[in-house]
Amino acid sequence: MFDDPQSPSWTPLLEAAWKARANAHAAYSHFQVGAALLTASGDIVAGCNVENAAYPVTLCAERGALSAAVAAGLRPGGLVAAVVVTDVDLLTPPCGACRQALAEFAERLPVLLANRRDRELHRLEDLLPHSFTGRNLA
Ligand code: THU
Repeated sequence: MFDDPQSPSWTPLLEAAWKARANAHAAYSHFQVGAALLTASGDIVAGCNVENAAYPVTLCAERGALSAAVAAGLRPGGLVAAVVVTDVDLLTPPCGACRQALAEFAERLPVLLANRRDRELHRLEDLLPHSFTGRNLA
């Protein structure tokens, strides 16, 4: 299912991510990103990057989607799959901050990177090995 980048299971997530990307506010970088998350309850929650004239205030698509998913009831362990879409040749992986934010909810999360032509599937644990987790605080 989510261990095959070509699986049709990704289609609704990709559609949601492309739709959100069209609404990205990327006035400064002009680099529009869309993300979508599937939760264990079957919800698909999308996000886009939201830039700001005060550049560091910018929010990535992945963390926008994550915030919306948590507001809709997502809890740790409840993330099933994620996609990130951009319209450039080089596929866009989540930034370090987004990897850390996602790892809180699913350390082995399948993350599909896509553009209009290519797909690449990763596990979050490979993108962020040896991550800092709640276990480290115990
Ligand atoms: N960005 C994302 O939204 N997600 C990523 O995975 C990488 C970067 C955004 C942040 C900023 O608005 C723009 O892309 C350029 O860095």
